[in-house]
Amino acid sequence: MIKKCLFPVAGYGTRFLPATKAMPKEILPILDKPLVQYGVEEAVEAGLTDIGFVTGRGKRAIEDHFDVSFELEHQIAGTGKERMLDGIRDLIEQCTFSYTRQIEMHGLGDAILKGRTLIGDNPFGVVLADDLCFGHTTGVLAQMVNLFRQFRCSIVAIEEVPAEDTSAYGVIAGDAISDRLFRVTDMVEKPAPEDAPSNLAIIGRYILTPDIFDILDATPVGKNGELQITDALLRQAREGCVIAYKFDGRRFDCGSIAGFVEATNYCYKMKYGESP
Ligand code: G1P
Repeated sequence: MIKKCLFPVAGYGTRFLPATKAMPKEILPILDKPLVQYGVEEAVEAGLTDIGFVTGRGKRAIEDHFDVSFELEHQIAGTGKERMLDGIRDLIEQCTFSYTRQIEMHGLGDAILKGRTLIGDNPFGVVLADDLCFGHTTGVLAQMVNLFRQFRCSIVAIEEVPAEDTSAYGVIAGDAISDRLFRVTDMVEKPAPEDAPSNLAIIGRYILTPDIFDILDATPVGKNGELQITDALLRQAREGCVIAYKFDGRRFDCGSIAGFVEATNYCYKMKYGESP
């Protein structure tokens, strides 16, 4: 089954400058936990414990986060604060972490292709940590892994967005299989509302079959001069099958200030039972 999960984390996070000048955007905390840790927890819940990061310059804090910090841990040993590291220690025990660098940013498709060396010839998950997802019953990635057992092809998570927002997402068209499932017939990266095939937007959770790498390798650059995973997935859809899944849960766009604040308020309420 699927054991590997790729986290493309090389992006600059310019929407959060100056906060992200010297700190990776993935380390920005929602309450007391970095965004990327929520993503890794979701992967582990889905049984994906081989974690691969496609990283870049200025991202070393991510490696340090998924490692022990001897001095700090020695300092707080035997105090009440030790417990605050339980969650991250569990992750470190359960997972292996591998890293490769994307030297230049050429889009999400390029980042995923760079991850080939970490993934090899296996189906794998992709998590964009900016999209913080909470499943209603199980996590979103776990829902998708279950579907993979049934369909054995690439799966993208989708959500309905307001028509005017399509230009921020990959957007699909598909034949409905059930309420939540579509067989993809078309896919367009960041279309203007008038060109969008629907308002079903791809969010940052994917299960990909490994043939995606050869397809990416042969895909010309697309929207904004970048190699787009959307273009490669469209080829997979046309030559085989790609499933779009309207996931059961909530997703926050933590790549935007508004989404980040919304996620923070949501998590505060979940944790402390009231609004801040
Ligand atoms: C990327 C993908 C896009 C997808 C989005 C989900 O865009 O290219 O198709 O809808 O992630 O978050 P980005 O947000 O990296 O510009």
